[in-house]
Amino acid sequence: MANKEKACAELGFYSEKHALPEETTEAELLSLIERLNNDDKIHGILVQLPLPKHLDDKTIINNILPSKDVDAFHPTNVGRIMIGDFDFVPCTPAGIMELIHESGVEVSGKECVVIGRSNIVGKPMAMLLLHEHGTVTVCHSRTKDLKAQTRRADILVAAVGIPKFVTGDMVKDGAVVIDVGMDRDENGKLCGDVDFDSVEPVAGAITPVPGGVGPMTIAMLMKNTLTAARRAHEKKQG
Ligand code: GUN
Repeated sequence: MANKEKACAELGFYSEKHALPEETTEAELLSLIERLNNDDKIHGILVQLPLPKHLDDKTIINNILPSKDVDAFHPTNVGRIMIGDFDFVPCTPAGIMELIHESGVEVSGKECVVIGRSNIVGKPMAMLLLHEHGTVTVCHSRTKDLKAQTRRADILVAAVGIPKFVTGDMVKDGAVVIDVGMDRDENGKLCGDVDFDSVEPVAGAITPVPGGVGPMTIAMLMKNTLTAARRAHEKKQG
């Protein structure tokens, strides 16, 4: 959370952090969202997930104004991503696409394998790769013979949440490997879903944890917020 505030400060964005107590009720949270929805000073709203158990993610997200939903979690924005007509791209997949583009990696016609089917990463990631003409496979906990799938991948995205899950024997020679994991290893040290030491010698390119996808995610959140502010300004101008 501190990183987001810092990024806002560096860019000269006005920001408010509302650190609410665990026992905050749905009505209280919805009332805050309503206030922020109607505040012209605020162009983007992010509700940090996961929420405490007594709060329903769907209800909360559905009440964020789609034009201020810089996470792109509202059903309107999710739908717009499906049809390829969107202002906001979910921050983690957007950051990954940026890394792919900046590295000169071509997606068109490539075998892209995404491990993980979450609404935050796996599903929108698959959609963005598809929009760029990748051949996309989404794998998950019920996938039979995961290794056979991952070994086909030219671009492999690991978003499973299991420390060092992807090992060198699961990766094709020269593959681009993107690690979305923010896990802890047996010593409590931050690590990714990819076993960097065994995968790095096999991969053509690989993102580290920390310092790979994470900082990109925040950059994309800032980009979405700037887009939201631009759209609000255009609307005002008529
Ligand atoms: N929790 C983990 N990732 C995210 C994210 O991208 N957005 C929000 N709001 N919460 C998260």
